[in-house]
Amino acid sequence: MRIVVTGANGQLGRDVVKLLLGAKHEVHGFGREQLDITNENQCLKVLKALKPDVIIHSAAYTAVDLAETEEAIAYRVNADGTKNLAVASESIGAKFCYISTDYVFDGTATNAYREDDNTNPQSIYGKSKRAGERHVESLSSKHFIVRTSWVYGIYGANFVKTILNLAKTRDSLKVVSDQFGSPTYTVDLALFLEKLIQTDRYGIYHASNSGVCSWYDFACAIFEESGVKIKVDPCSTEEFPRPAPRPRNSAMEHEAIRANGFEDLRPWREGLRAFLNELEESK
Ligand SMILES: NC(=O)c1ccc[n+]([C@@H]2O[C@H](COP(=O)([O-])OP(=O)(O)OC[C@H]3O[C@@H](n4cnc5c(N)ncnc54)[C@H](OP(=O)(O)O)[C@@H]3O)[C@@H](O)[C@H]2O)c1
Repeated sequence: MRIVVTGANGQLGRDVVKLLLGAKHEVHGFGREQLDITNENQCLKVLKALKPDVIIHSAAYTAVDLAETEEAIAYRVNADGTKNLAVASESIGAKFCYISTDYVFDGTATNAYREDDNTNPQSIYGKSKRAGERHVESLSSKHFIVRTSWVYGIYGANFVKTILNLAKTRDSLKVVSDQFGSPTYTVDLALFLEKLIQTDRYGIYHASNSGVCSWYDFACAIFEESGVKIKVDPCSTEEFPRPAPRPRNSAMEHEAIRANGFEDLRPWREGLRAFLNELEESK
């Protein structure tokens, strides 16, 4: 398949490009310099010239806290940029795979969110990503919307790397224990995307590593798996006020994955182990 990947210099985009190339697809990974998604004409020009079979749209404004004060930029990238790509994609008959987020939910549910549950984003980032989803739903006749959560991988900054670095200079750490979700290893998500885009089983998917934990559980697992001895204390969200509200519970059911016959992503702790091995080997 000929595949365009947006946000190809990002944490997820880099692993997606690497995996697709390894799977012998023709891949065109574009960073902002080659394809600024907020530039409508450029989106049309680039996609019409290449005529890819699929566009994996991974580019986004992802600064969750900054978005609270940069609302216009967040919407320009996440909503308008996604619209530009969806229109261009439809004009060439391509499949469109939009990477979205658990932040489209408010986090007040007591169960895991299903793909067709009502969305109710609380942060500007979540609202702008949901606006992107709506454009995709109305403008692309061949779309996948893949909501993922708590993403980490070898490229870019993320919770796992941050917490391992903090442990080098601290004897103890406090980590929030009242927010629940599912960590997702970029490589596992990329493997799922590669399977998904070869089908025409369109619609909304929830795709994270399976299982649910709190950030505190996740931190403890990171230290256990990497053999780091440090005291980790649980704390509440209120002890760590942030500009953007986080969903308390963003656990997601993977109903669409099962219903459409895909293999679920492995348990989050196995994904974590694989990532820590990759990190170790990269040293
Ligand atoms: N990280 C998470 O925990 C998480 C959770 C759920 C969902 N997601 C979603 O997963 C996707 C990938 O996230 P990620 O963690 O890989 O994010 P990331 O590392 O921040 O990568 C996003 C990329 O988008 C690029 N970008 C921003 N504005 C652009 C524009 N106008 N034109 C073209 N490219 C632009 C950025 O380029 P610059 O570096 O030049 O700004 C960056 O390389 C996003 O859609 C995100 O919303 C992420």
